Amino acid sequence: MRRLRLLYASSEVAPLAKTGGLADVSAALAEALHQRGHDVRLIVPLYRRIREAGHELVPVKGLQDLVVELGAHSHRVSVQDVKLPGREQSAWCLDCPELYDRDGIYTADDDEHRRFALLTRAALTTCQASNWAPDIVHANDWHVALLPLYLKLLSSWERLFAQTRTVLTIHNLGYQGAFSSDVVHDLGLDDARHLLHQEDMAAGWISFLKTGLLYADVITTVSKTYAREIQTREHGMGLHEMLKGRAESLVGIVNGIDSAEWSPERDTLIPRRFSVDTLKDKRVNKTALLKSLGLPAAGRQPGGRGVPVFGIVSRLVYQKGFELLFEPLREMLRHHDVRLVVLGSGQPDLERSFALLQRDFPGRVCFYKGYSNALAHLIEAGADFFLMPSRYEPCGLNQMYSLAYGTVPIVRRTGGLADTVQLYDPGTGEGTGIVFDDFDVDAIRRALAFALELYHEGPAWRRVQRNGMSQDFSWERQAGRYEELYHQLLER
Ligand code: ADP
Ligand code: GLC
Repeated sequence: MRRLRLLYASSEVAPLAKTGGLADVSAALAEALHQRGHDVRLIVPLYRRIREAGHELVPVKGLQDLVVELGAHSHRVSVQDVKLPGREQSAWCLDCPELYDRDGIYTADDDEHRRFALLTRAALTTCQASNWAPDIVHANDWHVALLPLYLKLLSSWERLFAQTRTVLTIHNLGYQGAFSSDVVHDLGLDDARHLLHQEDMAAGWISFLKTGLLYADVITTVSKTYAREIQTREHGMGLHEMLKGRAESLVGIVNGIDSAEWSPERDTLIPRRFSVDTLKDKRVNKTALLKSLGLPAAGRQPGGRGVPVFGIVSRLVYQKGFELLFEPLREMLRHHDVRLVVLGSGQPDLERSFALLQRDFPGRVCFYKGYSNALAHLIEAGADFFLMPSRYEPCGLNQMYSLAYGTVPIVRRTGGLADTVQLYDPGTGEGTGIVFDDFDVDAIRRALAFALELYHEGPAWRRVQRNGMSQDFSWERQAGRYEELYHQLLER
């Protein structure tokens, strides 16, 4: 197959700048496409945290001090090449201190629209400055969703982009990048007002994501089920009609997992590596997990496995559905000797509820408020169950990490969770986890009861763990799906 030139734009890349799964996907997919022989330019902002983490910044020749005009603002930008640990693919970090030298990746500052519009527009400027004609520009989420429109405007006179096609991936419809239409000038789109969503403009606002949906040649999202769901009123977040209108160009490709980082056999962040053949070694990680969080491991010992440990690693936000858990978790903690470890931060109400749970069940519950990649790995390796009761979940990565680590996921049948976890059937011995349908407290109660039952059933328990560990979620395979899609698009 022909070697493609791919411009891949994202607001996050692991491990340089990450708040969630988008970062993991950007890094791993770019690497997998590079490994398949493509010429990939992965472009992200040079946030303060990247500079402060001490990564070596190598100025890219010919891409220094470029001037990018956006409305009334003129920005001087440079591209610094930053190696991604353990990978051949590097990230091109867009250096523009006045916009990116700030505390957060995302901010509530007045110029948030300009921070990401600049990334988008400058990504195309770097192609022009190096006379590099991309076959595909691939934008991710609202932050860079103006790419197709900027490209359309540019290609009316810039021949470099004559053959370029655009892909927009929706990782999460819950974030659309909606701003007052006053920002149109700042985006450099004064002359393109007629190309913006007219009803929105009339109502006084502009949505980056919607604009992307209007002009991307192909729209993808990160699971087949989510691709279907977002065409319904229930999950479409106001965009279902529009997405239905583009159904022919809407494709679901489930994410992969980065086996260099998330593999129990190779994980350098856990005390004991293990595989499906040495599954009993997982116990060492469980002991280490409980110890590191000050939770006693003692208790009833079914089959010598110790008390069941439930884990959560997540952004604590509405999407994830955690409010359903508290009542059933309290009941379970009152009646059974179990442990719960929670790593995450986000909405104050959810943080408070987990903190109260820890207060009320000392020695049983540990809530680690914050972000820690090392602890995330230890939880995946050491827990027995992983909880994801998501209200909606475009793909979800942690349930796949859990499967790989023999940690049985308990998930709601929605989006990517539905596509990656199969309900364990004690009759046939098939299935990889516990899957429930209804978004309600009773469904959680039943799921937890089933979990405990399964845990105490020696052979069934091993079986479900092994089933999960033998799933293949490699990016090598999933990157092939993107490659096919790019080729189809170029042949159109
Ligand atoms: P989302 O992108 O919606 O947050 P995903 O399941 O796709 O959900 O990806 C979440 C990613 O972020 C995973 O790699 C997970 O381990 C990581 N993560 C989330 N919260 C934390 C945290 N508090 N500490 C460390 N890693 C976290
Ligand atoms: C989003 C979604 C999550 C998905 C991730 C990577 O943040 O919430 O479900 O796995 O993007 O695609």
